[in-house]
Amino acid sequence: MTSEALNPNRPEEEQALLEVRELKKYFPVRTGFGKKVTLKAVDNVTFSIKKGETLGLVGESGCGKTTLGRTILRLEEPTGGDILFSGETILGKKMNDYRKKMQIVFQDPYASLDPRKTVADTIGEAMDIHKMYASKSERQEKILELMKQVGLNRDFYNRFPHEFSGGQRQRIGIARALSVNPELIVCDEPVSALDVSIQAQIINMLEELQETEKLTYLFIAHNLAVVKHISDRVGVMYLGHLVELTTSNELYQHPAHPYTEMLLSAIPVADPDLSASKERIILEGDIPSPMYPPSGCPFRIRCPRATEKCKEAMPELREIAPGHFAACHNI
Ligand SMILES: Nc1ncnc2c1ncn2[C@@H]1O[C@H](COP(=O)(O)OP(=O)(O)O)[C@@H](O)[C@H]1O
Ligand code: SF4
Ligand SMILES: [Mg+2]
Repeated sequence: MTSEALNPNRPEEEQALLEVRELKKYFPVRTGFGKKVTLKAVDNVTFSIKKGETLGLVGESGCGKTTLGRTILRLEEPTGGDILFSGETILGKKMNDYRKKMQIVFQDPYASLDPRKTVADTIGEAMDIHKMYASKSERQEKILELMKQVGLNRDFYNRFPHEFSGGQRQRIGIARALSVNPELIVCDEPVSALDVSIQAQIINMLEELQETEKLTYLFIAHNLAVVKHISDRVGVMYLGHLVELTTSNELYQHPAHPYTEMLLSAIPVADPDLSASKERIILEGDIPSPMYPPSGCPFRIRCPRATEKCKEAMPELREIAPGHFAACHNI
């Protein structure tokens, strides 16, 4: 973690690089019967990320992780709430400057690279847009330097993405994100599509880059095992809501929310840090559609601890121990 840019006299919230406040992203959708409904992909999500920190974000497929990441970068316009970067709202602002400060690495290294662009032009695209070089030779130098940083052979400069494996494509995607010297990178399941043997290499590289480039990460994954190592803190999402947020260690050792307990017990226990004596809870039931969420607590249909109150009221995210937040009536 880096802290030199932080002033110890300022309160902690003011030192956040990114603050997300009651963020909402709703999509109007039509059902098969032509009825219009509102799909609340992200609903009232609040958190912040400090400079140099990695915040992991987990939850099953469809819980709103990608929408949250895309909305933070304003690739989607928020329906409500606020997004602050270095203490200033980015809503209503021209995004050109912020596009340099915030970048995204996409989940699918096959779909996210234009097959007609060479490696060099893929990596150089954002530098072209932001006019970040004075001459062609400077552009080339910068691209070669980025390729070196992400472990791509310089001979790949004029080749096309389809010639490469998933891991190498993801390295191209990471070089592209790095090209504009961003402060924050949203890593949206950057290793989910890769072979397990390649996953660790990419994660280790992202960690090294964080140190050298002083990066802040929002690191999205659907699996707790992947985010555990890389994250300082971890947020857990369920049906568009943030249901738990705390340090990585606390989350693994003292999960509070019943959904987090389920996710943890679903990890194959080859991980020695997760006590083998813990009772395994099976992830039961399908996730309800975010078009038709249950009343009260969004998790109540699957929750072993649900009570009458859970039907009636939505639990708020509250601090249950210092720095440990959970949204549940029965904690
Ligand atoms: N452009 C869109 N229009 C309508 N629904 C969307 C759109 N994008 C995402 N969704 C819906 O929002 C929910 C969250 O999706 P997503 O953010 O991709 O989840 P995750 O990344 O956690 O798998 C899903 O129900 C998905 O179908
Ligand atoms: S509020 Fe109720 S249903 Fe929701 S997680 Fe807590 S106990 Fe379960
Ligand atoms: Mg996603």
